Amino acid sequence: MEKIVSLAKTRGFVFPGSDIYGGLANSWDYGPLGVELKNNIKQTWWKMFVQERLDMVGIDAALIMNPKVWEASGHVATFSDPLVECKTCHERYRADQIDLGAPCVKCGNKGTFTDPASFNLMMKTWLGPKEDASAVAYFRPETAQAMFVDFPNVITSSRKRVPFGMAQIGKAFRNEITPGNFIFRTREFEQMEIEYFVHPSDWEKFFEEWLANMYKFMDRVGIDAARSHNLEVAKDELAHYSKRTVDIEFDYPFGRKELYGLAYRTDFDLSTHAKYSGSNIVYTDPMTNEKYVPHVIEPSFGVDRTLLAVLLSAYDEETVASEEGEGDTRVVLRFKKEIAPIKIAILPLSKKEELSNVARPIAEALAKYWRVDYDETQSIGKRYRRQDEIGTPYCVTVDFESLEDKAVTIRDRDTMKQERVPIAELEVWFKKQF
Ligand code: GAP
Repeated sequence: MEKIVSLAKTRGFVFPGSDIYGGLANSWDYGPLGVELKNNIKQTWWKMFVQERLDMVGIDAALIMNPKVWEASGHVATFSDPLVECKTCHERYRADQIDLGAPCVKCGNKGTFTDPASFNLMMKTWLGPKEDASAVAYFRPETAQAMFVDFPNVITSSRKRVPFGMAQIGKAFRNEITPGNFIFRTREFEQMEIEYFVHPSDWEKFFEEWLANMYKFMDRVGIDAARSHNLEVAKDELAHYSKRTVDIEFDYPFGRKELYGLAYRTDFDLSTHAKYSGSNIVYTDPMTNEKYVPHVIEPSFGVDRTLLAVLLSAYDEETVASEEGEGDTRVVLRFKKEIAPIKIAILPLSKKEELSNVARPIAEALAKYWRVDYDETQSIGKRYRRQDEIGTPYCVTVDFESLEDKAVTIRDRDTMKQERVPIAELEVWFKKQF
């Protein structure tokens, strides 16, 4: 884990938020490579679950919703964790995450915890100039609710028929008692969620289908299947809205923990929003005229946990012959090409103008299609190693021969094999790879 956190910082994937002020505990900023990787993950998800499917539509809803939404959803009443406090040092813990009979890990005193109290995780704010109860609002703790609340508008405007789904990507906020483990658990994070509306009698079929789809996505972004496992959530641990939940867990360096969740939410959300809002949320089947409240299958993906699992799955260290002149161990991020932050690095052998005159136009031409890096400092061996460390699938070297033969060398990240390709054919060559 230390290696990943350190590489993430030095190479510009993720660094501590507000760093020059000493940071803000458990807040992280995505740097130049992190934002590319995150965007590629989100685009792959959107492409796979919205663009490539005729039964899906997307929305992008407001982050702060009418507070009644959170009363109806049950979040105001039940979205809480059990909180205990050490009576000696006042450190606070989640009661279900520590051994209450053991000493406090901070001060070492034993038997000093308060009784567990329910701590609501909703992040509160006030809208407008009055800071009183009438102005209280919440930052959404999940993206899901907007898809239920917008259901009537979506169904009439898009004319979708059940079964169909809605998708949304966006930030969510939870006042977690114990955030930690890098970007695994934070108070501000991003979700990619789907609410798939089905006839009540079909839920089991679609539950299995979505579980399989989640694994297909994991494969597409390069999450190691051997480190991923299903956990059938016990009946007495189900969230208040769920009849069945399967968590997909991942083997992180800090243990096996949740990556994603798949829940059968029944008609809980649509029915309670109908009740609390007074709206009539009933679907009429256009073929049979049957009227019913659709049931919901919800695959929920954390963006940040995806990125962490992708980094951990891609990280590799290997011993290689040092013919490239740079040591015999190389660190490689073996990203899938589709999500690699930089697709192609253009590396002129030297900074001489005659080479940059050839290399720059190549970079500019390829940058129309793919994210390209341009690097002309240090030895070529060091530059290859740097690109390996950030997972760039291809390096293009422009050398003095290029001036004569109008060709360049393409080096493959994984095989380290090199191939001479005419400059005029580069675009076509890369179109075959991506
Ligand atoms: N709408 C259902 C829902 O929000 P959840 O299991 O509470 O279910 C879904 O959250 C996913 O969001 C999790 O599987 C995880 O990937 C991500 N997630 C939840 N809390 C998080 C946190 N504090 N930090 C980072 N990711 C989080």
